[in-house]
Amino acid sequence: MEYLVLNNGVKCPVIGLGTYMLSPADAENSVREAMKMGYSLVDTANAYVNERAVGRGIRESGISRDELFLSTKLWPSEYENSNAVDETLERLGVDYVDLLYIHQPAGNWMAGYRQLERALREGKARTIGISNFEGKYIEELQTKWEIPPQFIQVEAHPYYTQQELRKLLDRYGIRLMSWYPLGHGDKTLISEPVFAALGKKYGKTPAQVILRWHTQMGFTVIPGSRNVDHIRDNLNILDFTLTDSEMAEIAKLDRGARYYHRTDDQLAQFAAWRPSFEKE
Ligand SMILES: NC(=O)c1ccc[n+]([C@@H]2O[C@H](COP(=O)([O-])OP(=O)(O)OC[C@H]3O[C@@H](n4cnc5c(N)ncnc54)[C@H](OP(=O)(O)O)[C@@H]3O)[C@@H](O)[C@H]2O)c1
Repeated sequence: MEYLVLNNGVKCPVIGLGTYMLSPADAENSVREAMKMGYSLVDTANAYVNERAVGRGIRESGISRDELFLSTKLWPSEYENSNAVDETLERLGVDYVDLLYIHQPAGNWMAGYRQLERALREGKARTIGISNFEGKYIEELQTKWEIPPQFIQVEAHPYYTQQELRKLLDRYGIRLMSWYPLGHGDKTLISEPVFAALGKKYGKTPAQVILRWHTQMGFTVIPGSRNVDHIRDNLNILDFTLTDSEMAEIAKLDRGARYYHRTDDQLAQFAAWRPSFEKE
């Protein structure tokens, strides 16, 4: 495994498993199989309504707590719930998480960020992060944080490399964790000829080339999958290195084009929605 050293000295693996849109049964299965294969990083969220299942998958895999790097996110409906962190830990079945995000800049997100800072101070989170806080939100947050975040989780892939945001992140040593790293299953991205050509050269699939590009960009990457063969492939990306000219070739795909466009109306809806948490 390769690791990033974060701005508070904690180490995080560069590749992990995402669990967005995985049902509890799929999440449990994917997490268990991934951990047995050698993954240690797994990313979930209150909003994915699969935290209990992720916890079960972790326990079934037998991975030791020291090896595990568990990431989750508080949803806006939880930002003013002073028990939100404890309730999240209870669902996951752990005493602390390795990374705790606030998921969206919606509702009283500053109260959410204060909960992250408190969790860090109390040892309930080893690192903290912001998700979807590009632009004015991170600008505002940085005037108010007492502790800067270690991570920002945002959409990033070869069509959208977050060039502007990365300049700001460098200033604070905040690392980027890419969501939709494979375009959320979009075949256009995976079918770009450059990935097939590089895959042929290195004996890798196009998806593996894209994931290696992420890690060489300095990102941590968390592809989602319910397919055990894909999960295995996605971990098997650290035995080749794209050259500078190959990275430059891939950079030509950057169109500043996101898949997901969030509106202010959606932010208001996010603030109003409460996940129906799994009961058991
Ligand atoms: N913070 C946020 O707001 C936010 C938003 C979205 C996502 N996320 C996080 O980011 C993670 C990644 O995003 P995502 O899961 O939505 O999208 P993604 O990782 O870009 O794509 C997932 C899709 O790619 C397919 N796939 C995975 N590995 C593959 C491979 N080796 N070859 C071919 N296809 C492959 C999966 O299908 P199979 O199941 O068939 O493998 C699935 O359809 C999420 O799971 C979640 O943890 C965060």
